[in-house]
Amino acid sequence: APLSEAPPTGVPAYRALAAGIRDWLMDGRLVPGAILPSERALTQTLGVSRTTVTRAYQELVKEGYAATRRGSGTVLRFPGAGPNRLSPFGPQLTDPDDDQVDFTCAASAAPAGLMTAVDAALGELGAHARGIGYHPRGLPTLREAVAQRYRDRGLPTDPENILIVPGALAGAAVVARARVQAGDRVLIESPTYPNAAQALRAEGARLVGIGVGGGGWHVPEIAAALRRTRPRLAMLIPDYHNPTGALMDDDTRAAVAAALRAGDCTALVDETMAELDLDGAAGGRPTPFAAQAASTLTLGSMSKSFWGGIRVGWIRAPRSEVDDLYAALSTLSLGCSVIDELVAVHLLADADRILAERRASLRRSRDALVALLRTHLPTWEFGVPSGGLTLWCRLPEPIAVAVAGQAERLGVYVVPGVRFSIGGGMAHHLRLPYAGDPGSFATAVERLRRAYDAALAAPSSLPAPQDPVTLGERDAMIA
Ligand SMILES: Cc1ncc(COP(=O)(O)O)c(C=O)c1O
Repeated sequence: APLSEAPPTGVPAYRALAAGIRDWLMDGRLVPGAILPSERALTQTLGVSRTTVTRAYQELVKEGYAATRRGSGTVLRFPGAGPNRLSPFGPQLTDPDDDQVDFTCAASAAPAGLMTAVDAALGELGAHARGIGYHPRGLPTLREAVAQRYRDRGLPTDPENILIVPGALAGAAVVARARVQAGDRVLIESPTYPNAAQALRAEGARLVGIGVGGGGWHVPEIAAALRRTRPRLAMLIPDYHNPTGALMDDDTRAAVAAALRAGDCTALVDETMAELDLDGAAGGRPTPFAAQAASTLTLGSMSKSFWGGIRVGWIRAPRSEVDDLYAALSTLSLGCSVIDELVAVHLLADADRILAERRASLRRSRDALVALLRTHLPTWEFGVPSGGLTLWCRLPEPIAVAVAGQAERLGVYVVPGVRFSIGGGMAHHLRLPYAGDPGSFATAVERLRRAYDAALAAPSSLPAPQDPVTLGERDAMIA
């Protein structure tokens, strides 16, 4: 029931308010980490007495659904959960004997070729050590190796088009800093990779979400959003989109590029997953988005194709843009680690072999997770992505946050859909990555089944109307 509705007779108003907030947490309209409005603000908004709000907050704290944090107020949580356990960075489990399963990160362990690349890089380091070690736009050999990879994909590229940055997320932050001014609108898929959305928000962007659901991208919707909101930048993940796994085909790329051109809007395209095609797409992989729109700023990375521990990514841009992007980068960092860059050069030299192995192993992992889910959670729906690292599961009920909370108690960490949404919702969805150790999948799915049963059995997590969130600023709620 709406929080402002009169409580049923006999139920004290503070109890009804606490129950309402708890229900919103359970059905995903509020997320763990959300900061509740100040007692004074909520008193005014709801027109109830201050004591009602104070006692409601006290009740939530007593039950474990909230914690008081100095400086931030009252923060929602699940009973028994530590703070921020649902962070997309995950609990970083490293102990192989630990039977917890971390499904929060879509990332794989290092490929077999890593140590060979490191040895080769160390062999070259002596020569570099005679210089000062700064290569602000990137090590020349790496810029050339990255450019070559684009040429191999059919997109003419020179080293002068490449700016090396410490990862694709850093690349998004650099573009945001160079291109976004406070109040600018930026088009972005919803759901999307949340850290990139945060990087844009950090520069004051007002994000305009466009859907990328089961059917992928909808060009008329994109064109309408462009006309309505006149954004200068559109952030897209057309290649095995995180979290949905969707792949934009060539015709859609051409149509989206035309719509962006008509709207005088530059594409910021994140190709972090582009090399992780798992099924050898019939007719070949789509051409890089930048082939359709020369002004495109493309982000790439070593993180998912090779290893996240190599903090090397890049921005591919028109030559005339690279100096401005470099100026933005230099407010954050004077470039990457030479050792990482040298390792990246050697990994890229061995890319065909390493990527063939990675694709084969991801294919096995994806198929194993799909089979387990179909057996043990047959009502969860998902498309099987032809690449990338994640399954985007739709539960019949809007209880993904409650399932994530219950799963956490059982030692499985998953990220509910709301974390990937622009502006809330996605209460039916959970993202399940298959990038980790498939040996853990059977345990994980069995616990997810128990978590799902527990969430279904909890009356407060049953379906509720999808009212827009009105408690405070949605953006400020995501921990
Ligand atoms: C779409 C997307 N972009 C960027 C990143 C982060 O990449 P990096 O480690 O290179 O910063 C991720 C990681 O999950 C991602 O999924």
